[in-house]
Amino acid sequence: MRALLTKIEQAAGLDRVGDRLQRAVQAALRPQRVRDLLHGVWLGHPLHPAMVQVPVGAWMSAALLDAMPGQRRAATALVAVGTASAVPAAVAGLNDWAALDREQRRVGLVHAASNTVGLACYAGSLAARLSGRHNLGRTLAYLGLGAASAGAYLGGHLAYKQGAQVNQSISEAHRIGDGWHPVGDLAALPDRELVTREIDDVSVILYRHGDDVTVMLERCPHQSGPLGQGEVREIDGHPCVVCPWHGSTFQLNSGGKVVHGPAANDQQVLATRVVHGVLETRLP
Ligand code: FES
Repeated sequence: MRALLTKIEQAAGLDRVGDRLQRAVQAALRPQRVRDLLHGVWLGHPLHPAMVQVPVGAWMSAALLDAMPGQRRAATALVAVGTASAVPAAVAGLNDWAALDREQRRVGLVHAASNTVGLACYAGSLAARLSGRHNLGRTLAYLGLGAASAGAYLGGHLAYKQGAQVNQSISEAHRIGDGWHPVGDLAALPDRELVTREIDDVSVILYRHGDDVTVMLERCPHQSGPLGQGEVREIDGHPCVVCPWHGSTFQLNSGGKVVHGPAANDQQVLATRVVHGVLETRLP
């Protein structure tokens, strides 16, 4: 399996299809608030992995009921629930996929193809059951479960090996030592401008607004983009930093709250204090 996954990651032949699909997804999923909704910005957590629990649970339960006598109606109901709920879960997944890098998109494309085969099998299974052909419905459901399981395996590879839609910056926080770290004279910090500093070799950005200073990790939680090179924008009365790579946006004055995706996580903010005019920061 490892060799196969490496081949998929390196399969440049998938890029033509992938690039076209990416453009189509980006054109279809507008405006930004639709994309943010599907990324899970409102939840502070990626939405796709949460949504897939419904079809996976329904289809797995249907597979168990299909192996028992007298459970046709219940199994049919679960196949219907799983099939209907897989559609919005797939749309949320496509929205995340369109903001991944090339190698991740290749694996994501095969993940989506496996799940599409699974969904088609379950749609056929539902149609067969509703027309009274329960044996065919059961066979199609088991085929669908096999395809969806292959898709789930690839989804795990995307998240846990390739780091798709996981917080890319939080591991930086673990490298910052305990206690307070001086980062410079408060008076020398420019007002309402981003300044980059290093603490224990971890890059952070400083943003002074009046007497308050926000210190946050510089690496974007989406794909490690350099927030220090981002633009500062006022959104709904809050100063925000916009990642220069894919536009994830984080508030600079209220705990690093994510405002726009593709990142779905808030950015890690550090605690601050001023001692004899020197700004100090530490992990909260
Ligand atoms: S790296 Fe993708 S939005 Fe920042």
